[in-house]
Amino acid sequence: THVVTESCIRCKYTDCVDVCPVDCFREGPNMLVIDPDECIDCAVCIPECPVNAIYAEEDLPPDQVHFIKLNVELSQAAGWKSITKRKAAPPDADEWKDKPDKLSELVR
Ligand code: F3S
Repeated sequence: THVVTESCIRCKYTDCVDVCPVDCFREGPNMLVIDPDECIDCAVCIPECPVNAIYAEEDLPPDQVHFIKLNVELSQAAGWKSITKRKAAPPDADEWKDKPDKLSELVR
């Protein structure tokens, strides 16, 4: 499967969802995740993300491996619904795009 990682938090640009052929993205308050049961590993979303948040599971940087579990968990969470059309990013998304260690900012 493919995995959305920490860079997405508070950025949520949503360019990724427009290209997904199987509609596997799920939207939370300030991040998206990929439903691993739906992802077909086509990889077309990877270059679409302006903050390089998406990785194939086997290519994840070691410090992002915990996002595998988080994508599984959050894609099943109540309130995390399918998103298939790009929408405006949060107004302060650009201020967050280069910030590290954003996990504490994640809203579930
Ligand atoms: Fe997030 Fe990048 Fe998509 S910031 S919403 S994974 S385009």
